[in-house]
Amino acid sequence: MTTRSSRSAYGSVAVGIHWLSALLIVGLFASGTLAENTVDPATKAMILTAHAPMGIGVLLLTLFRLVWWWRFDTKPAPLGEGPAWQESLAKVVHVLLYVVTLGMAASGIGLFVLSGAGQIIFGGAPGPLPDFELFPPRVPHGIGAKLLLGLFIVHAGAGLYHHFIKRDTTLKRMWFTRA
Ligand code: HEM
Ligand code: HEM
Repeated sequence: MTTRSSRSAYGSVAVGIHWLSALLIVGLFASGTLAENTVDPATKAMILTAHAPMGIGVLLLTLFRLVWWWRFDTKPAPLGEGPAWQESLAKVVHVLLYVVTLGMAASGIGLFVLSGAGQIIFGGAPGPLPDFELFPPRVPHGIGAKLLLGLFIVHAGAGLYHHFIKRDTTLKRMWFTRA
């Protein structure tokens, strides 16, 4: 398989970024929800010590992905086997996945900076951890989490539908072996 995509399949760089980002985002859902539901400040701080770098990792991967598509690679042509509305919906969902992911990373960083949690968790400043609900970026971070989960379900559901019901090459061409 080649680094760049062909007309019929994604290249190894696009596939690598896609699955690494997906894995990290699943980890972020889990750790974010765990942090939100943890009362003990020490445990919460420990969870956020993993959550924040993962979020920054996804941010860097997403920025690299945008540059990759913009300057170095071209997406494969749609399979063209389904109705046009499905292709349009897929495109809209892909764009929203980018927008909401970037929004989550920005609001998470904003939350850490404004609340001083970044200094406490990574800078050795004395605690206790702040109440995140008191800081404005907590609202978009919470709404964005739900939006991203909705998009994830629609997007992954569509991938599985193509693979198991329609039995076409949609999912295979987003993997490391050629379809
Ligand atoms: C794509 C990136 C990210 C995703 C998908 C994500 C996901 C989540 C989720 C699902 C929650 C729980 C929200 C809720 O249930 O209302 C959460 C909470 C939180 N996240 Fe993130 N996050 C991301 C990036 C970040 C970053 C980069 C930081 C900090 C630098 C951060 C800091 C926090 C904090 C402080 C909370 C609040 C915990 C609480 O209220 O107890 N997040 N995140
Ligand atoms: C939160 C996690 C995920 C994100 C953010 C995400 C994002 C994206 C984006 C933006 C694209 C368009 C290609 C690109 O711009 O690089 C894409 C394509 C694709 N994704 Fe995901 N994805 C995620 C999880 C998944 C999962 C779990 C599956 C499988 C069940 C999946 C299956 C696919 C497939 C098959 C394509 C190719 C679609 C086509 O060729 O039209 N994705 N994904």
